[in-house]
Amino acid sequence: MSQCPFGHVAATLPADSMPTRPSPRFAGWREAGPLVPLRFQDDHEGWLVTRYDEAREVLTDPRFSQQPQRMPANDTTVDRGAEPGPLDEAGIEADRSANILGVDGAAHLRLRRAITRRFSVRSARTHRPRIAEIVAEQLDALIQAGPGADLLELYAEPISIRVHALVLGVADHLLERYAQYYVHGAPRQVQHDLLREAIDHRRQHPGDDTISDLLGNEDLSDAEVEGLLHMLSLSGRDTVAFMISTGTVALLDQPSQYRALAAEPELVPAAVEEIVRYCTMFLTVFPRTATEPVAIGGHVIEQGTTVSVSAVSANRDERRFPDPDVLDVRRDARGHLAFGDGPHGCVGQQLARVELDEAFRALVTRLPELRLVSTGQHAPTPLANPVATYAARPVHVAW
Ligand code: HEM
Repeated sequence: MSQCPFGHVAATLPADSMPTRPSPRFAGWREAGPLVPLRFQDDHEGWLVTRYDEAREVLTDPRFSQQPQRMPANDTTVDRGAEPGPLDEAGIEADRSANILGVDGAAHLRLRRAITRRFSVRSARTHRPRIAEIVAEQLDALIQAGPGADLLELYAEPISIRVHALVLGVADHLLERYAQYYVHGAPRQVQHDLLREAIDHRRQHPGDDTISDLLGNEDLSDAEVEGLLHMLSLSGRDTVAFMISTGTVALLDQPSQYRALAAEPELVPAAVEEIVRYCTMFLTVFPRTATEPVAIGGHVIEQGTTVSVSAVSANRDERRFPDPDVLDVRRDARGHLAFGDGPHGCVGQQLARVELDEAFRALVTRLPELRLVSTGQHAPTPLANPVATYAARPVHVAW
């Protein structure tokens, strides 16, 4: 096994990363080796995986546990994005019992199976016509606001939250509050109270949706139903919205790429894969802990050691993607790790693909002359903890 090329100096995550341009330090680290010693937010040391092959190895190896043994901040994994504040006993139990991102093996599979049907390829396809309508309505709203409007606020975020509410089965009369609490944030108790209203409504008025499915699942407790819905609400909150807005910025930064899609909208499905690769928003996915010594990339990761995979760095690994810093809508980018991989790979990825497909297709078709006025995505953005994702906004556009 090789020696650590960094001696005992552990890095912290770079603060100069931007959604469309990762910190140059990642390239330097990839060059030096597949793993970098990393100092975590609670000040203990572990590893950061920077290269593609080793990233996949870690994400798919069951010897890495998802349980938050070494990241105290991660005890509230499902609460990322919620404002701190007191939560009643039922809410605490809901979060604890349905923490899909914080459990392994059979316990994880049980929770995951309860939701996968609603997020399959077939289910995403079924939702496509309504998603296209929502996209068209939001594009109308953007156009009506006039040049200079914020694409994130008027287009990306409403698409993301409205589709989310549709698939989950949040009733129309709750949509405004749902959007407010889950897009702009709200105290944990307020979010949970609203979910209870949404669940009660579906108890009285069952529909063809996730909430009704979960309520009909006799294997799940009330707390698990509430917890899964809270977790799903947080998972879809920023991800799709940021991917639409950052993807648009990336395309407008390189207008030949935007024009290529405007001229040939049939390129959009492949372009979506390239956009999520290029604009990967998870600097690191959730940290894993080695449950026994595991050899990765020439290093032995000792039992109990924390390992974080950088999806951003892996997706810019020149060993896997030639000219990785070039956005090329004709590239075959399949196999990227923007949605993670292995047992915890993104549940919502098929739905996200349809949303992104419709969102970019509508933009290039109806606004072929779209241009960027200004964006916060050209500046380093703060990282959301404990999982380092970009928190990027705004995106002012004209046409
Ligand atoms: C472009 C949009 C999205 C991106 C880039 C994305 C990315 C990711 C990534 C990287 C993971 C793995 C985290 C890890 O392994 O630590 C993940 C997991 C997850 N995502 Fe997504 N996501 C997106 C959209 C969605 C949507 C729309 C939903 C649901 C409505 C969703 C639900 C989930 C869930 C439930 C998990 C946890 C899966 C598990 O632990 O088994 N995601 N996502």
